[in-house]
Amino acid sequence: MAGRFIVFEGIDGAGKSTLIEGISEILTSRGEDVIITAEPTDGPIGSIIRAGEIKNISQNAEALLFTADRAFHTQQMLRWKKSGKTVLCDRYYASTVAYQAANLGGTESEKEWLKEINRPVVTEPDITFLLDIDPEKSMRRVNNRGDASKFEKIEYLRKVRSNYLELAREKGFKIIDASRTGEEVLKEVITIIGE
Ligand code: TMP
Repeated sequence: MAGRFIVFEGIDGAGKSTLIEGISEILTSRGEDVIITAEPTDGPIGSIIRAGEIKNISQNAEALLFTADRAFHTQQMLRWKKSGKTVLCDRYYASTVAYQAANLGGTESEKEWLKEINRPVVTEPDITFLLDIDPEKSMRRVNNRGDASKFEKIEYLRKVRSNYLELAREKGFKIIDASRTGEEVLKEVITIIGE
């Protein structure tokens, strides 16, 4: 039996990790062979990104690094799917379009460039969920530093959220209201997956 490739997107603090754990538990109990994976990966390129070893990197170079990491990861995920696994992936190309567009300035031509560099390396997931939430709320869920940085972060995440929503409408992602409780969100998402 061919597997499935399911992606979860959303701004920091949207509740992706908890949701993915919950989905994994339910699908495993139903007899599915589930694998949880994430971007940036813990592979060779993802590790460089996560370690933050490259200082003063340009925004364009950063976008290319995330995309190179994805090229490697996509091959891996396709193999897992082919072998019958249900692949639950925390972030995929929409993260690059949403976050790097916010970093770069968010013009249409920048967004086009980000989509263009991703086109040859990605495969369209069977379904993508966008956990949509107001950054003010999501930031209350995660630890923050001082007030000034919190304000800047919220402003930044507003741009990321708006980029996400634009792409979600274009690509037909399932937009999920992530301001509700974890149980409510899990219930809705598992119903959609079941269908
Ligand atoms: P995480 O908190 O989900 O592990 O993601 C790490 C950060 O990396 C998060 O703030 C989003 C950011 N990111 C990008 O900016 N572009 C990307 O393509 C990906 C995959 C993540």
